[in-house]
Amino acid sequence: MARTVVDTIAELRARLDAVRSTGADVGFVPTMGYLHAGHLSLVESARAHHDHVVVSIFVNPLQFAAGEDLGAYPRDLDRDRELCDDAGVDLVFAPSVDEMYPSGPVATTVSVAGISESFEGATRPTHFAGVATVVAKLLNIVGPCSAYFGEKDFQQLAVVRRMVADLSVPVEVVGCPIVREPDGLAMSSRNVYLDETERAAAPTLQRALQTGRRLIDAGERDPDAVVAAMAAVVDAEPLAELDYVAVVDAATLEVPERLDGELRLLGAAQVGRPRLIDNVGVVAG
Ligand code: PAJ
Repeated sequence: MARTVVDTIAELRARLDAVRSTGADVGFVPTMGYLHAGHLSLVESARAHHDHVVVSIFVNPLQFAAGEDLGAYPRDLDRDRELCDDAGVDLVFAPSVDEMYPSGPVATTVSVAGISESFEGATRPTHFAGVATVVAKLLNIVGPCSAYFGEKDFQQLAVVRRMVADLSVPVEVVGCPIVREPDGLAMSSRNVYLDETERAAAPTLQRALQTGRRLIDAGERDPDAVVAAMAAVVDAEPLAELDYVAVVDAATLEVPERLDGELRLLGAAQVGRPRLIDNVGVVAG
């Protein structure tokens, strides 16, 4: 028996108001669907800590630039619904674009200065405003809850944390570790775009980040040396085109002059059609 799928804002609000009126608390997992084990790990964490778990499935047009893969983005609501069922999700919110953006293009957007301008934001300048706007909207729709996000999209998590803090959104943001394939590739809905040879080349990005981590573990404190070593690993793979690799302060996402404390190695590379992103945490000192 499939769980309830709700596709209007009014109905979701009514149901969650009823849930909260019994004293139950809500865990919320926002997604764009085509669910995999990474998404389901967020559901599992939410289930472990909350009485009622809501998953949203909405491919948000605002966060795709013209020429990106909005039309081709993989979608399978029936399969997602079954996966949610098996994972014990209580409610799936799957609104249409019209339901979310009834007036067409939104006049009000949320942009998070600074932290959203580097790395992913440098390559995709409109992306994080689209993410922050839809996440603000989803959090307003769901209401007080704990919202679960993956560290897979490390900069997105930082942008959402900053937005929630700056706007006093009554939501606890919870970050969850990256779920990987056995060969190290970070799971992603877009991995379905990889053909067989590209799939074999895809873990290169993760190997590059691990090279950086090992250097730091061995005492390297010069960020440029770490970046050069990571870039060399990606450059050695003919099917991978490097976008960026970086070593940043894990809290601010700024590049330190000398490596110290909690750091994050970030990387993005094009392998065939998909642009892969990944990151690895490391502590220096
Ligand atoms: P989507 O790419 O579907 O991802 C939904 C959530 O799952 C995000 O928090 C993402 O970081 C997490 N996730 C994806 N792959 C993961 C993995 N391998 N391990 C752990 N977590 C993983 O991110 C989005 O959608 C959208 O930008 C969204 C926040 C829903 C706003 O539209």
